Amino acid sequence: MEQKRSSFSGKIGFVLAAAGSAVGLGNIWRFPYLAAKYGGGIFLLVYIILTVTFGFALMVAEIAIGRKTGLSAIGAYKKLDKRFSFLGYLTALVPMIILPYYCVIGGWVTKYLAVYVTGQGMQAVQDTFFQNFISQPVEPIVWLCIYIGVTALIVFFGVESGVEKASKFMMPVLVILSICVAVYSVTRPGAWEGVKYYLIPDFSRFSPMTVLVAMGQMFYSLSLAMGIMVTYGSYMKKDCDLEQSVTQIELFDTGIAFVAGLMVVPAVFAFSGGDQSALNAGAGLMFVTLPKVFADAGTLGLIAGGVFFLMVLFAALTSSVSLMETVVSIFCDKFHWSRKKTCLLVLIGCLLIALPSSLGHGIWSNIQILGKNFLDFFDFISNSVLMPIVALITCIFVGFVIKPQAIEEEVLLSSKFRRRGLFRVVIKYIAPICIVLILISSVLDAMHIITI
Ligand code: TRP
Repeated sequence: MEQKRSSFSGKIGFVLAAAGSAVGLGNIWRFPYLAAKYGGGIFLLVYIILTVTFGFALMVAEIAIGRKTGLSAIGAYKKLDKRFSFLGYLTALVPMIILPYYCVIGGWVTKYLAVYVTGQGMQAVQDTFFQNFISQPVEPIVWLCIYIGVTALIVFFGVESGVEKASKFMMPVLVILSICVAVYSVTRPGAWEGVKYYLIPDFSRFSPMTVLVAMGQMFYSLSLAMGIMVTYGSYMKKDCDLEQSVTQIELFDTGIAFVAGLMVVPAVFAFSGGDQSALNAGAGLMFVTLPKVFADAGTLGLIAGGVFFLMVLFAALTSSVSLMETVVSIFCDKFHWSRKKTCLLVLIGCLLIALPSSLGHGIWSNIQILGKNFLDFFDFISNSVLMPIVALITCIFVGFVIKPQAIEEEVLLSSKFRRRGLFRVVIKYIAPICIVLILISSVLDAMHIITI
């Protein structure tokens, strides 16, 4: 039975919805700390090159597959070729790994919002504040529960239009506010060194890890290689310019990540007194550096801090809602459970898987997998291992099984497809070869640092 598929009203609706899914903690929390850690300018350069080549080709392919088949990932790959149904399942695994730890970070953001709203923003300035908070056994889990609860509630009631409307308002505010914070941050004394570090590529800092991490971040940030864009593509109208939409989504997403980097990286230089080891702070960077920027601007800064974390919370919520929605709909479709029951089970499962990611910063910090705590390990497995594998199989599938022409035909329905040549070469040859090389180097790299 063919069901009529709902669709986005037009191109703007599609681009905003896809950008809403793409813009999240990945841009504001993850990108700056990776850029800081993996070489600054060289990371930025590699990231942008990857986005306009790999990212472009993969996003075009995923959206076109969705629009062509009118189905979400699991059904779509199966419809195109039975032998590739497994690809649908593999892509479905990625959001299941990401969602739990995403909620842990979401909980931290909620805590920071509460800190600012209750007027305690000054306390967050101390270097130990963040570390003390995340290493406690109970408090982060309470915030995690609140965050997961809100996410599940939204998915449960499916108030998509509410979230959608709110995010249409919040997103532009987030953009403006981020630019203000970035301007403030780069004009602090001592920040200029950081601007140079962030903007000028230093090729001596280049390593295979730079490419691997940048690639993982690109998939993560654009919500690629996990079937989301296939699903969104299935809601897209045939006359909507596909190529142009992809360009706009990428610009939006990369723009926000770029500005977030400008907020955080120069501030590290300005406030760490020349101690560059602060750049390696990792996942906590946003929570440690930004409070200093806000406190430096006095009372106004503290208010800005509250507003800022509210925006981040919103960006995060829209993303975790769609992550959870994906997981819930997979189980609903597969096992024919009711939505209510599925929501509850996903909530409980997610909470249980999230616990180690939270406790790994405190009482379980002695347990290391591949030299990483639980949160970093889940992050590594999903972004640096699984997503490249899914992307590789997708490239082979498009390049050699259904052939690029199948995608091109779909794109040509609505666009001139100027970058057709680029698409073809990237998807068939460049992307698969690079991904294999990068995967091998990452596995070798991981082998050296095993410290279980
Ligand atoms: N792109 C989101 C971010 O930058 C995170 C994310 C990855 C996501 N995959 C997703 C969000 C799927 C929604 C759906 O934070």
